Amino acid sequence: MIQTEDMEFAPRVISPENTQEDGDIEVTLRPQSLHEYIGQDKVKEKIAVYIQAAKRRGEPLDHVLLYGPPGLGKTTLSAIIAHELGVNLRITTGPAIEKTGDLVSLLTSLSDNDVLFIDEIHRLSKQVEEILYPALEDRVIDIIIGKGPSARSIRMDLKPFTLIGATTRAGQLSAPLRDRFGVIERLELYNKEQLTDIVRRSAMILNIPCTTDGASEVAGRARGTPRIANRLLKRVRDFADVMGNGEITKEIAEIALGRLEIDALGLDSLDRRMLGMIIKGYGGGPVGLETIASAIGEEAVTLEDVCEPFLMQLGFLGRTPRGRVATRLAYEHLGLVPPEDNSGQLKIT
Ligand code: ADE
Repeated sequence: MIQTEDMEFAPRVISPENTQEDGDIEVTLRPQSLHEYIGQDKVKEKIAVYIQAAKRRGEPLDHVLLYGPPGLGKTTLSAIIAHELGVNLRITTGPAIEKTGDLVSLLTSLSDNDVLFIDEIHRLSKQVEEILYPALEDRVIDIIIGKGPSARSIRMDLKPFTLIGATTRAGQLSAPLRDRFGVIERLELYNKEQLTDIVRRSAMILNIPCTTDGASEVAGRARGTPRIANRLLKRVRDFADVMGNGEITKEIAEIALGRLEIDALGLDSLDRRMLGMIIKGYGGGPVGLETIASAIGEEAVTLEDVCEPFLMQLGFLGRTPRGRVATRLAYEHLGLVPPEDNSGQLKIT
């Protein structure tokens, strides 16, 4: 289970953040090849070409930046890239690289053409980031030895390697770092058909009997995110075992997801609280994100990274220079009456 500093509530079932339990299951379910990886077709097609070209030339793949909402398979895709290149994968995260020495020892331990994956790359410190620039551009690192006036800089060559950086917030990446990635790809939320395929594949691997309608019901409420789909699958299986004969059917999935307070479109109580606050507290908006966050007692980054991409994809939320606005569809979904068109409150429909 994920622990945050002052967690008052259990983590949301549909939070896309990775937990220990997800980590275990994700490894079991992780596709090994691009062929097995469902969805993200455009990204997959391009990456397949880059991998082939790099292999033919015996060169490392260009550095890759993957960005997009959490839980869409950035780590999975990186593992596939390393596997298809036939090289080792080293996985770390921005906050785990505390000192420049940590990055230096990672970089110097890589073998030819290996892949180094840095998740949450936007959270690298400035000092660590500066070590990366020459490493990415010229395959060298400059190490400072000693302190004060007698300090010397030693340049060390690195083996050819590929950095895959992943971030939920490409906008927070500094321009010099972003510019050093040859390949920049955005992962998109998955559609219901793709998620249904992912749920069916996972159910098969985990030996869970599941009808197509059952899989589709789980998929439809997974807010476009495979990590959530796989987590819901496990929770729904518990209901199927206890309330039914173990098979996930549409009916069992509906009951289970209802109990988990995930509605027909996949909104959970946090999404509804956010929309409810914009509508009831601020007349539908526009209202600033920080204001909404403090009004409902949540972190603004959680709302921005987790709720907003999905609510915007559904067309429930608009972002304007003056703040967030709830759309007509959001009012209707919550069973509320939208204001008249001339009220000036509803800016986006
Ligand atoms: N499991 C998680 N993401 C997946 C994907 N995109 N394809 C197949 N299985 C997955």
